[in-house]
Amino acid sequence: VKPAPLEVTIRPARERDLAACEQVFLSSMRDLSRRKGFPAPRFRPGGLLPFFRHALRTDPKGFQVAVHRGRVVMFAITILRARWHFLAMFFGLPGKQSRGVGKRLLARAFDEPRPPKGHVRSVLASPDHRAQALYIRFGMLPRSMCYLIGGKLPKHVPASQLDLRQVGPHGRATRAGLALAGRFDLRFREARRDLDQRYLLSAGKGGRMFEALLAHETVGYVVVRANGAIGPGAVTRADLSGDLIFAAMGKAREMGLARIVAWIPGLNEGALRAAFGAGLHIEATTVWMAQKDVGDLRRYLPASGVLF
Ligand SMILES: CC(C)(COP(=O)(O)OP(=O)(O)OC[C@H]1O[C@@H](n2cnc3c(N)ncnc32)[C@H](O)[C@@H]1OP(=O)(O)O)[C@@H](O)C(=O)NCCC(=O)NCCS
Repeated sequence: VKPAPLEVTIRPARERDLAACEQVFLSSMRDLSRRKGFPAPRFRPGGLLPFFRHALRTDPKGFQVAVHRGRVVMFAITILRARWHFLAMFFGLPGKQSRGVGKRLLARAFDEPRPPKGHVRSVLASPDHRAQALYIRFGMLPRSMCYLIGGKLPKHVPASQLDLRQVGPHGRATRAGLALAGRFDLRFREARRDLDQRYLLSAGKGGRMFEALLAHETVGYVVVRANGAIGPGAVTRADLSGDLIFAAMGKAREMGLARIVAWIPGLNEGALRAAFGAGLHIEATTVWMAQKDVGDLRRYLPASGVLF
């Protein structure tokens, strides 16, 4: 028997909804992990607030909440950069799922920002059947697996053909750094996104931007954050993707990091082989779904699950 539709009000999120959205996310993720048999993910309380604030500041109309009896029961966040419209988060309280709220909420989060003509929707999707079904109906089709890979930094990082040279200080984007990343993001992710690069370098414990050089020639870039996250990054040749990972691990070691994580598309064979070769493990499995192919994922390392 199909449960009755749930009466909700859908409206743009406000600063005072953010703590409730984090609670919805945590309880939704715990329930999803239990249903799918994955270990429950660990999240630091308040850890999502910087990203929520970034989304609220840059894409206020893409951040929508569904409210039932005065309480946030579901939320969706879309991020629009150039013509790329990325669904960053979409979660509902377990007891309020499968009652038609998600479909309405998703339509609002995609339509309210009024994306330009020719826009392309995309998402890093969970294996939840309701989510998968809605994404296909909203035009997005599966194009690659995408893994969150992480673990201890190996004692001996394999040698890389690439040299990494830091551009700008720790924790802050510079004009040169944004130009460097923008050049490669335009080619391999089809959008320059200074707003996100600034956020990634300055949020939390901050991060560093590196120019990747092959025999003194600039062939790419990569960001290494002080929380151990590697990416975004890109490199001109797919056969250098593994070298980019090894070079980033070398910098992570110099930065004194003990653990690292990276989001690696299945299509990025070089990075995937390098990460597995270094003994890292799969921490989450997602599906890259999009209305069209984006850039070139063989040469691109996503920023994160929420900014791709
Ligand atoms: C994903 C989520 C936000 C969707 O919200 P929701 O309110 O449950 O979704 P809705 O009820 O509006 O829509 C689900 C649709 O999937 C359809 N559906 C359910 N199971 C299905 C299946 N096995 N195959 C095809 N369609 C299916 C339903 O019929 C429904 O469509 P309908 O209303 O036209 O009948 C919610 O289910 C959730 O929080 N899931 C867990 C967290 C998660 O995985 N989030 C996605 C992160 S990428």
